[in-house]
Amino acid sequence: MIFFKKKAKITLKNCKIPEHIGIIMDGNGRWAKKRMLPRSAGHAAGSENFKTIARYCNKIGVKYLTVYAFSTENWKRPKAEVDGIMDLLRKYLKDSTNFKAENIKLRFIGELSVLPLDIQELIKKAELESDEATGLVVYMAVNYGGRDEIVHAVKKISERVKNGTFNTEDITEQVLSDNMYYTVPDPEFIIRPSGEYRLSNFLVWQSAYAEFWYSDVLWPDFSPDDLDRAIIDFNKRNRRFGGVDEEEGEKR
Ligand code: FPP
Repeated sequence: MIFFKKKAKITLKNCKIPEHIGIIMDGNGRWAKKRMLPRSAGHAAGSENFKTIARYCNKIGVKYLTVYAFSTENWKRPKAEVDGIMDLLRKYLKDSTNFKAENIKLRFIGELSVLPLDIQELIKKAELESDEATGLVVYMAVNYGGRDEIVHAVKKISERVKNGTFNTEDITEQVLSDNMYYTVPDPEFIIRPSGEYRLSNFLVWQSAYAEFWYSDVLWPDFSPDDLDRAIIDFNKRNRRFGGVDEEEGEKR
């Protein structure tokens, strides 16, 4: 008689928590439309949910969370919608209980110099105020584009080559990585709710070996339980980074 060893059920308790998660907070507009509300209501609900998920990531021990709040392409949206998103950002930044009391460190990535000046000031203040936090580090991507980030890095390196402080031959992948908007470990896991299967210019350089997870749930409805499900699924993935499984390698 053959006995099959029962596989231990994977729960969050016996899971590896990804060190760095990226989230494309998509589906706010459809969430609002389903409720016959203006799109701004969807973004407001999305911004509330961002707080819930950031708090939850902090609780379960995620180290870095990068969220896509506003892309370099989002300026194409109607002015009222863009202004609405900027207002949500202002509101979030003005209330330091959102991060300070939570022991969350807040950081921003993107081309921030074109944002309204008061938002730039609020960002500086929030980054400073949360500097001592030892918990989750949230990177909010605002006026962020992955390709834009690569161009930015190439320009920085070119400047050094031009002024003679760096040699073209010394340009490596690591040098490129070091010149991106941020230099934390690459995201291991990227989540996109709302039924779209695109990267949409998010973390183009850093996602080379990320695992992707998609879901039909719209961002404002994406719950901590959904995140648990995603992380459990992440734990079932076989990450080979271009290599082969150790056992497979031995057989050959
Ligand atoms: C994509 O959904 C979402 C955005 C372009 C904006 C995301 C912004 C927030 C969640 C609020 C940011 C503020 C804070 C404080 C985090 P969509 O509008 O494209 O949705 P749709 O595809 O259903 O139309």
